Amino acid sequence: MEAIKTELLNARNSDEAAAAVPRAAALLREGELVAFPTETVYGLGADATNPIAVARIFAAKGRPTFDPLIVHIADRSDLPRVLSSSALSDPRVSALADAFWPGPLTIVAPASGAIPELVRTGLPSVGVRLPAHETARALIRAAGTPIAAPSANLFGQLSPTSASHVLEQLSGRIDAILVAEPSRVGVESTVVSTLPGEPARLLRPGGVPRELVEGVLAPFGLLLGPEAVSSSGAALPAPGMTASHYAPRAHVRIIDPSSPDLSNLSRVALLAPDRATLARLDELATGLTVVERAALSERLDPVHAASQLFELLHQLDDALRAGGGAHDTILTTPYPERGLGAAIADRLRRASAVR
Ligand code: TXA
Ligand code: MG
Repeated sequence: MEAIKTELLNARNSDEAAAAVPRAAALLREGELVAFPTETVYGLGADATNPIAVARIFAAKGRPTFDPLIVHIADRSDLPRVLSSSALSDPRVSALADAFWPGPLTIVAPASGAIPELVRTGLPSVGVRLPAHETARALIRAAGTPIAAPSANLFGQLSPTSASHVLEQLSGRIDAILVAEPSRVGVESTVVSTLPGEPARLLRPGGVPRELVEGVLAPFGLLLGPEAVSSSGAALPAPGMTASHYAPRAHVRIIDPSSPDLSNLSRVALLAPDRATLARLDELATGLTVVERAALSERLDPVHAASQLFELLHQLDDALRAGGGAHDTILTTPYPERGLGAAIADRLRRASAVR
């Protein structure tokens, strides 16, 4: 792929945004790729109704074309541009949108004819989300079209929660980055499918805890899923949900502190759910070279931890890379799976899956 110049468009305050947002929107309308902040992670945006622009997303990320994209809208009134009329009359869709939008929830439902095959990778359904980030909404509104956006990272690598994470991976591969405050939630949206004649299914744990989704959908029946992670790529719960995903360059090993497997380790970085567990990990790592250590929060706090997860993984990975070797490993412990903890545990498991 030939390198292109990646334009930095600052929108860190309202004066800057007044110039940067219309410029970014114009690029999107011209079929170019613009990374932009959302409350979950940075997205890599293109006009969702322009198949050529959408194809450029797959090329820039090195993403396989069996992994469908999420379409982003600015206002609920834009939903008919993305979903079919039957989806719009599904009471589960309205209940989920009422409860969680704007916010970190993606609804998968039958697509409108305006959404190209490539966005859906040939599926009859499409994922749609109305983000809570005001700069993201301003951008989508100014572009005047639904915006397809996966996370703005190279395929299979760590998700970006700041503009510098995006630059590190995609500089020279995309047209512009709209720069604003780092993502507040820090893990990707929860993905729920509501397909006709089937119970709703949780396809990916994320920024809205499963317990809340279950509560909202209770009047309409069960919430299935998520299914166990498959490493072969067979029978995936959702397309694109391969086991090895969200991976730093270093290995990630999840150990049980009461019977830790410390075989084949030399240089490590430690990542713990809280301070007390970090102290425990530090004791266990006596005899290893510890290059860096971090706790996701002081005391166990999944909301704070989610907002720090990718930032800390990036930092530990960078620390290991300076002077690194083949067995360099980020050591961590299982994250408790309540509330947002389920999304954190899911991302750590995927990061640790053997590539
Ligand atoms: O928070 C987020 O969701 C971020 C921000 C940018 O909005 N986006 C994001 O996109 O995480 P991405 O491409 O990294 O993840 C999209 C995933 C797919 O891999 C797939 O699992 C699911 O969403 N998905 C999308 N459309 C689907 C469909 N039609 N059927 C089933 N799953 C779908
Ligand atoms: Mg992603």
